[in-house]
Amino acid sequence: MSKNTRSIPAPTQLPKVSHGVGSYVFDSTGKRYIDGSGGPAVYCLGHAHPEVKAAIRDQLERIAHGYRYTFTSDPLIRLTELIQSQAGPGFEQLLYVSSGSEAVESALKIALQFHWARGDHTRTRFVSRQRSYHGNTLGALAVSGFAQRRKQFEGSLFPCSFISTANAYRPAAAGTADELTDFLAAEFEQEILRLGADNVAAFIFEPVVGAAGGMLPAPDGYARKMRDVCNRYGVLMIADEVMCGAGRCGSWRALEQDQVLPDIMTIAKGLGGGYIPLGAVAYSQQIADTIIATDGAVNTGHTFTGHTLACAAAAAVQDIVVRDQLVQRVKTHSAALQKRLVNSVGQIDAVGDIRVRGFFAGVELVADRDNRRAFDLNLKLTEIVRARTLQEGLICYPVSGTIDGAQGDVVIIAPPYNASDAELDEIADKLNRGLQLALADIGAA
Ligand SMILES: Cc1ncc(COP(=O)(O)O)c(C=O)c1O
Repeated sequence: MSKNTRSIPAPTQLPKVSHGVGSYVFDSTGKRYIDGSGGPAVYCLGHAHPEVKAAIRDQLERIAHGYRYTFTSDPLIRLTELIQSQAGPGFEQLLYVSSGSEAVESALKIALQFHWARGDHTRTRFVSRQRSYHGNTLGALAVSGFAQRRKQFEGSLFPCSFISTANAYRPAAAGTADELTDFLAAEFEQEILRLGADNVAAFIFEPVVGAAGGMLPAPDGYARKMRDVCNRYGVLMIADEVMCGAGRCGSWRALEQDQVLPDIMTIAKGLGGGYIPLGAVAYSQQIADTIIATDGAVNTGHTFTGHTLACAAAAAVQDIVVRDQLVQRVKTHSAALQKRLVNSVGQIDAVGDIRVRGFFAGVELVADRDNRRAFDLNLKLTEIVRARTLQEGLICYPVSGTIDGAQGDVVIIAPPYNASDAELDEIADKLNRGLQLALADIGAA
């Protein structure tokens, strides 16, 4: 098919957002978009939820912010109860921040302070994974295996080890899933031994990789084996659930499905559903007790830590998630979402893989289905898909560089937990039309 890019809007010509209602967003020209990805997997209740708006208004009538060294608040206490009741034991301590990056920074610092408090002053190194994203502040970026976002800052990023990502579609080693997870755990162990176990503070990973890998769940048994290696060498496990957590994968904690408990967990995006920026780091009482015994308190936090209005908004979001059993809904509707995607785009030659966990899906695009070869990165397929799907009235989250930091195109779908069946149909339909157009643009349809 011939190349036709004439009607593709340039990526810089962004529409101006006007308002949102449920699963829909409207721009200033009145054009309607269905939100198929919640931006980057954020808007778990959709937009302008009346109860969340009312909770924000009520709180604002009282006070926006009570500073953390002077006050605690009902919204903070309520939010903590809601998180702990959904996350289960092991998360007795919570520190609230304003973003996922700040949550990761806090997690890294808590891990370091824990070892410091025990007298393990050499445990300062982190092990992370290739194709990972943990945030854009310097510490979070230092542990992110994301070449495009690191390159200008490399010289200022602290050293970090990057081991292979658990990718069943593009495995780091041949063999069964069991052999792959054995290989990955052995690679992890070797890296700890290479660094010297006494020098390693923590292993940080996304239980289900988001933007860096294009929605990649790990094979069964992976997290357990990595946990065992951590235990063997006194290395803390940090689960970065900023994108995959708070119910997105059909359990409140993504790692719950692997029956693995991390020592420290970060959450953000779906925690407050995007109404007011909020992130959190959750950790065990044992970690807190160790730190408190030596230092008196965790030595991290910011002016807006525990921001009252943000906590009120997130508590309203989580109250609705609990009351309407939305995590259960995500779990039970997940197979139907997969079926919708398979039926709508599964027949397209360029769709190599459709992977779904809860309401988190990745559609990987390939130039050749048989050998899983990626499209030439110069085609900028991701940008074309973004433009074409927007044109069709669909917000999705196309990500690139998912294979090696340069090549690899995946479209992430992450609908609101309360999206109706008809809305899920519309997302799948519009994705099909947008993909067909984008592939025609590059002569691959
Ligand atoms: C897994 C993960 N960790 C951390 C972050 C950073 O969060 P934020 O952009 O809120 O700082 C992101 C953002 O996409 C993420 O996906």
